[in-house]
Amino acid sequence: MRIIKIFKIITIISFLFLLQVFPQGKGSGMGIQRDVFGKTDDDRIIHRYTLSNKGGIIVKIINYGGIVTELLVPDRKGNRDDVVLGFDSLKPYLADHPYFGCIVGRYANRIAKGKFTLDGKEYKLATNNDGNHLHGGTKGFDKVIWQANPIRVEDGVALVLRYNSKDGEEGYPGNLNVVVIYTLTNENEFRIEYEATTDKPTPVNLTHHSYFNLVGAGGGDVFNNELMIDADKYTVVDQNLIPTGELRSVEGIPMDFRTSHPIGGRIKQVEGGYDHNYVLNRKGDSLSLAARITEAKSGRIMEVYTTEPGIQFYSGNFLDGTITGKGGKVYRKHFGFCLEAQHFPDSPNHPEFPPTILKPNQKYHQVTVYKFSVKK
Ligand code: BGC
Repeated sequence: MRIIKIFKIITIISFLFLLQVFPQGKGSGMGIQRDVFGKTDDDRIIHRYTLSNKGGIIVKIINYGGIVTELLVPDRKGNRDDVVLGFDSLKPYLADHPYFGCIVGRYANRIAKGKFTLDGKEYKLATNNDGNHLHGGTKGFDKVIWQANPIRVEDGVALVLRYNSKDGEEGYPGNLNVVVIYTLTNENEFRIEYEATTDKPTPVNLTHHSYFNLVGAGGGDVFNNELMIDADKYTVVDQNLIPTGELRSVEGIPMDFRTSHPIGGRIKQVEGGYDHNYVLNRKGDSLSLAARITEAKSGRIMEVYTTEPGIQFYSGNFLDGTITGKGGKVYRKHFGFCLEAQHFPDSPNHPEFPPTILKPNQKYHQVTVYKFSVKK
């Protein structure tokens, strides 16, 4: 009897230890906790990591697809709302969904006909979008299990995710070692840092695919979220959303977000809604402000800083009310927007675009920061 009791106590203690990876320091509000989110069909346990900071922000990330499942941000009164779309459980993430909250790779957005030529050799990628390659293929980085390690860093808490993509995966050449570091800082920044190395030349273009709504996820469309994008030009696309190569000025058309405009203000004049890569005005590759979203009712502001030359602004055009997300809320058209910092779509077939080929002696590095504040 006594042995059983002792065994039970040990079990409870180890369980509590597992739950509290880095418990919050007394009164600090900062910490990381881990719990079990679910199991895959082949019985692998998926963990959820909850990162919190002193500013009251909480971000939850799972090691399946590196998906941000929740991002709770205070409004001007200090009330927290979840500002990203997603699901309450693992199962719908394992099924088909429109890339909610995930890491996108090896190549974000489209590669025409899933083909490109490198060093005289033609490569054929998985075609999963009307004959084109989208977001890394049939099983991109959004659908793989990442090895996860929580760490404390100088300015906050972080989750380090690692994945080794094999030579030939989805048709890409080279073994690619990828590290993604999600950091929540006490300056209210959600920072995403990506690194990759390869043993053969390969295209690499990684991004993050959260669907935001600063009103709160599932609380309606994003039309009153006001957006600024620091871009004079965008990459023109054909009817299959493949770049034609033309960089067109936004001057005088509904694509112009150089000054802040409500997302819904001119959306009806844009066929299908916004789904465009903006050519950022930034010079060089230091971390610079790319976009700012403000929402008057809640007072929330989100700024996006990046090292990347482009940003895809996608206004959730393909959401159609068939998905029921967190808390039973139905996600209808335009209920979320994505701001995906990236290199331009289809760059491997456009030598005139900034290059995306990573070579064996190089390191891919990109940083994107989503920084939150409130307007009083
Ligand atoms: C693309 C859309 C695509 C969506 C998938 C976005 O990044 O720009 O064209 O349909 O991802 O959910």
